[in-house]
Amino acid sequence: ERRGGPVVDVKELVGEDLKDLKNNIRNLLGSGHPMLDTVSKYYFQADGKHIRPLIILLIAQATSQAPKKVHVSVKDSYEEIDTPISELSDFFIPTMGHHSKSNKDGINATEAVAVKDDASSSSPTEGAINPIYAPRVHEADQTFILPSQRRLGEIVEMIHTASLLHDDVIDVADKRRNLLSANESFGNKMAVLGGDFLLARASIALARLRNHEVTELISTVIANLVEGEFMQLRNGQVENGRNRGGKMTTFEYYMEKTYMKTASLISKSCRSSAVLGGASDEVCDIAYTYGKNIGLAFQLVDDMLDFTVSSDEFGKPVGADLKLGLATAPVLFAWEEYPELGKLIKRNFDQDGDVETAWSMVLKSQGLAQTRMLAQSHCQKAIAAISRLPDSQAKTALIQLTEKVLDRKK
Ligand code: FPP
Ligand code: MG
Ligand code: MG
Repeated sequence: ERRGGPVVDVKELVGEDLKDLKNNIRNLLGSGHPMLDTVSKYYFQADGKHIRPLIILLIAQATSQAPKKVHVSVKDSYEEIDTPISELSDFFIPTMGHHSKSNKDGINATEAVAVKDDASSSSPTEGAINPIYAPRVHEADQTFILPSQRRLGEIVEMIHTASLLHDDVIDVADKRRNLLSANESFGNKMAVLGGDFLLARASIALARLRNHEVTELISTVIANLVEGEFMQLRNGQVENGRNRGGKMTTFEYYMEKTYMKTASLISKSCRSSAVLGGASDEVCDIAYTYGKNIGLAFQLVDDMLDFTVSSDEFGKPVGADLKLGLATAPVLFAWEEYPELGKLIKRNFDQDGDVETAWSMVLKSQGLAQTRMLAQSHCQKAIAAISRLPDSQAKTALIQLTEKVLDRKK
């Protein structure tokens, strides 16, 4: 017995959907240019954790029997779009919406969910028009995932991977998912363009969901990723413990950056998953709050692991943040115990021996333990939010996922 009941087998819940994910993404990608094709697909060959799609799928299930929005019209027709996204190019502009044959690489425009104000009578099949896109019903508790929610998981994984391609250029990283990084393998120029291409194909797939609210949410995520990365570049704003604007403490600045670079993606895609399912505003807020807090916890743990695991375990460089001049939560907590860390933080650890000095101070301080406790408190908030949904195996899985995030080693 674990928190929230017996351990739920996540593979059994969404394993099939996750298995499809990689293939579907390959179908959304694909360029006539062989090198661009290779670069944009490169990080998908490694076994990513797929934590974002996993959360999106579980939120879809967990909200499927929760209250729906009232007065939302159910579309009774849909625009058939049958040109595979991977075939789109300037030389081949398809006439959208006028093809009659169905094609499973296209995406059903409405993915309509029958919207009812009474959760108990919502049926997974109502509104699902094309059997190819039939929702997968989980027998045990009748929860289900809509095709549009599966597609959302794919879109989000593509955006995440695009940001990694760019991030590895910015961080001059030589390793990712235990592979040579894309910038190492293909050079910066191709890595950047590969990321841009992923972003573009993700945008097409997003447009094809034909849901303005979700388009807005996910577009905002892309802006937030850039904002987070920019805040990190300006990490040197630490001055007397305050940023130059003087409005924020260094720690607040760090937390906001953390939201922007990691939690925004998870929180807004959780909300999007609920929106696609026709969930009520309250349920959408629950999904958002869960995503925000598990996202913050996830990045706090990431910043902790940068100090505590080996590069082989982590699959990417460790000790990287200090070397990049970045003071993350473990350092900021250690600073409270060792005020002399302040001057190293201010000069971005750029003098000989700074990285080593800061490293050993962090290890002998309570910084790592405090970071973990902060991550834990965000997990508690995530659990409090998700607990308000009706019981389901997916809900239990989401609760148990918070422990996995806290205890992860890679
Ligand atoms: C990883 O952080 C990086 C991110 C979470 C976001 C990076 C965002 C950009 C580069 C902006 C451009 C965005 C898009 C969508 C193209 P990290 O360096 O702390 O983690 P790591 O150890 O995994 O490298
Ligand atoms: Mg990086
Ligand atoms: Mg980075």
